[in-house]
Amino acid sequence: MSGARARKPTPFRVLVTGGAGFIGSHLVEGLLRQGHRVRVVDDLSTGRRENLAHLDGGFELVVGDVAEPEVARRAVSGMEAVLHEAAVPSVARSIASPLPSHRAGATATLVLLEAARLAGVSRFVYAGSSSVYGNTPRLPKREDATPCPLSPYAVAKLAGEHYVRVYAAVHGLQTVTLRYFNVFGPRQRADSPYSGVIARFITDLSAGRLPVIHGDGRQSRDFTYVDNVVHANLLALGAPGLLGQAVNVASGRRITLRALLQALARETGRPAAARRELPRPGDVRHSLADLSLAGTLLGYRPLVDFETGLRRTLAWHQSAAPAYADALRRDVEAGSTGERPAGPG
Ligand SMILES: NC(=O)c1ccc[n+]([C@@H]2O[C@H](COP(=O)([O-])OP(=O)(O)OC[C@H]3O[C@@H](n4cnc5c(N)ncnc54)[C@H](O)[C@@H]3O)[C@@H](O)[C@H]2O)c1
Repeated sequence: MSGARARKPTPFRVLVTGGAGFIGSHLVEGLLRQGHRVRVVDDLSTGRRENLAHLDGGFELVVGDVAEPEVARRAVSGMEAVLHEAAVPSVARSIASPLPSHRAGATATLVLLEAARLAGVSRFVYAGSSSVYGNTPRLPKREDATPCPLSPYAVAKLAGEHYVRVYAAVHGLQTVTLRYFNVFGPRQRADSPYSGVIARFITDLSAGRLPVIHGDGRQSRDFTYVDNVVHANLLALGAPGLLGQAVNVASGRRITLRALLQALARETGRPAAARRELPRPGDVRHSLADLSLAGTLLGYRPLVDFETGLRRTLAWHQSAAPAYADALRRDVEAGSTGERPAGPG
């Protein structure tokens, strides 16, 4: 894991919201590896206890909705830093159902910032999204471009960014937004049309189904292996000069969906064929990050390249994913989704 390579930092008490999700569970792993004390808060709506099972409970779990002020207050109590990952991370889902997307993306961010301020938390690192850029024509995307969100999801993520910036300016909280670009890796869900494209392609290819490409497949993405995102967050925990800036976190290379499918077909020995469907509303055409600010502000540069990340993700799907899918099914059958109210898990 990337974080293990960094210098051993001063241990902090860190809250990870959405810590039972895909990215959140990797963050918990990276934090524990560096010796930090970790609390997770998650409503288990898309996250799963199974994502954290391998960590043997070396952290505290609070189950609840962080848009509820009382849950947020309990979650931040005694914490020094917050890594805020909780959201409903899907463009398509936000178009079908915008209010939950807004509540989890924007409202929850404000509720948490306020709780963090009142509790004396010193640092707040927010999971932003490259979707805030929309189809801004200039590539690579630089943080000083005027945002142009194309979906309710992106609007909510942008609203969260503004709150994060304002809490630094008005209250002196050390805050930063990390704008993630198309993150992929082990434990990313592949079981719904809202899942990330790499997880869906791998699952379809392994099952002998044709992956679906929306549009002509020439759209491109800056696919970012999850260890790079963990690395950026760990750097943000210790970086000086956090004043609410928004910073790209990516790999700095763009890959078309066609090229992605070809790479996966090569690795799996399956044909690189796909079923074409209409382009999806709200999807951006091209995405590529400029990483200069991430370098100067955080000392970030990607540690794991796309090909290595893809091979690690495939290896996980081939080995751990079947047992993981069984465990998820048991998890769901046991009714551990969307538990409320908050309480230690
Ligand atoms: N995966 C990507 O490519 C990507 C790209 C850009 C930004 N992001 C951002 O990264 C973060 C994590 O995304 P992910 O891909 O790991 O998704 P995920 O769905 O796996 O994780 C989100 C987690 O938040 C939890 N959650 C949702 N609403 C909550 C609420 N109100 N209270 C408490 N918990 C709640 C879910 O149960 C889940 O565990 C999100 O903020 C997302 O917007 C992800």
